[in-house]
Amino acid sequence: MEPLSLLQLPRVSLPVITTTAPLNSRRQQGSSACLVPQRRRRGVRLSAPAVASETPRTVEAPSPSPASGKDDDAFDWLDQWYPIAPVDDLDPGAPHGKTVLGLRVVAWHDRAAGEWRVFEDACPHRLAPLSEGRIDGKGRLQCVYHGWCFDGAGACQFIPQAPALGPPVHKNSRACVASYPCVVQNKILWFYPRTEPEYKDVLQRKRPPYMAELDDPSYFTCRYDVLVENLFDPAHVPYAHKGLLPSFRDEQDPGRYHDQECGDPITMKIDQTDINGFLSTMKGGSIRFVAPCTFHGTPPTKVYADGKAAAWFMLVAFCIPVAPGRSRLIWAFPRNAGVWLLKIIPRWFSHSITNRVLDSDICLVHFEERNFIAAGLDNWHKACYVPTSSDGMVVAFRNWFRKYCKHQVGWGSPQVEQLPPSPTKDKLLERYWSHVVQCTSCSAALKAMKALEVAMQVMSVAIVGFLSVAKGTLLASTVQRTAVMSAAVLCFVASRWLANYIEKNFYFQDYVHSYK
Ligand code: FES
Ligand SMILES: [Fe+2]
Repeated sequence: MEPLSLLQLPRVSLPVITTTAPLNSRRQQGSSACLVPQRRRRGVRLSAPAVASETPRTVEAPSPSPASGKDDDAFDWLDQWYPIAPVDDLDPGAPHGKTVLGLRVVAWHDRAAGEWRVFEDACPHRLAPLSEGRIDGKGRLQCVYHGWCFDGAGACQFIPQAPALGPPVHKNSRACVASYPCVVQNKILWFYPRTEPEYKDVLQRKRPPYMAELDDPSYFTCRYDVLVENLFDPAHVPYAHKGLLPSFRDEQDPGRYHDQECGDPITMKIDQTDINGFLSTMKGGSIRFVAPCTFHGTPPTKVYADGKAAAWFMLVAFCIPVAPGRSRLIWAFPRNAGVWLLKIIPRWFSHSITNRVLDSDICLVHFEERNFIAAGLDNWHKACYVPTSSDGMVVAFRNWFRKYCKHQVGWGSPQVEQLPPSPTKDKLLERYWSHVVQCTSCSAALKAMKALEVAMQVMSVAIVGFLSVAKGTLLASTVQRTAVMSAAVLCFVASRWLANYIEKNFYFQDYVHSYK
């Protein structure tokens, strides 16, 4: 299956200053049994393993949560599973800091249990970020500020400053780090944004959406609602991604004018709309939105007379609200044809192509979301003119977001939603911090290419040196000298080409729609 890829879309936020209720205030309802200070209630150890094994389950709308039954018409953002990253892109040798739903978490690989863990990204000692820590020789998560170490359940195992014969202060519940329920499913690490003990077995009640076809997905980031809207908009593909993705002319509509991009009418039907999402059916198959993160596009199942299945290709995407104006996208293209290609194409190369597709979107959605904000999200239906059926899913999503969320993501921590200034284009489309440093395959490829670039430069200089020393002895003929000189030039040109390739694929490449 297609490897996952991660991109960052521009950061945007609402002009209105809103502050969601602090998570701690919501937590008070069910954690009175815990005799530790409020913040540390999240640090209560989970007795069961935090990461469960993968259990296949088909995509289904999540069942209502017993803890969230306060208001049937309000979507409970904290009673959902959220993807963190594809595990293939996470280095098990280091902790990884991520923000999801405004919560800063650290994902790390617990070598002793062979499982991934997700903790609050704050050390119980002095709140230093554990994501800046390291995995110690015993496979524990070590805070690098003063060396406290934690096991996979969040329990403190070692306080270097505590005398060996003194009281066992590391066993105090206040020394625990808050641990979130998490699970690896479809090779993606998911977490549930509650740490109270009553949620430790949440996996038995509710699981992340599972897609049997998705065994090795890929990923990208913008404002949550604008990103979702973009995914629900098939009509933009031939225009916004011109030349990057294939487009097909609808030959069954012979009378109509076709432009060169081959945009066509798209008829779709929306049903099964409720608080958990909706289903859209169209000629090319169906798309299900499982709120709040999952977008699952399924092609129609075609089986030939000889019993063989026709080639199919589907899109699965997870849109993760990170913070106001920031989202992350994890996506994949499961298919039943050309799968061998994925075995020979390096993961970083697939990522560079998908990053390019996302660049073409970012150039548009960055300004689109600012225009939405200027118009006021409550006025979306008035500000936008959507007369054709091709916008059906976008309208359905906007209706869902208004009806069940009042146009707001339910952040897990207090957030001030402000509109940051538009960055310059090199910042808008920058790729190194938004993707490469977070992706093991791209980081490794970048390191190898930089080493190769330096090697070629050194070789070029060495060849020139050799030429000057040996031109009267070993290199007697003009042909020999020319051949050696050509090799030096070739090495130099190749190193320059590689430097340019590195810059474009791992740092920044401009995208100008006008010239596509
Ligand atoms: S802040 Fe983590 S050990 Fe001191
Ligand atoms: Fe990558």
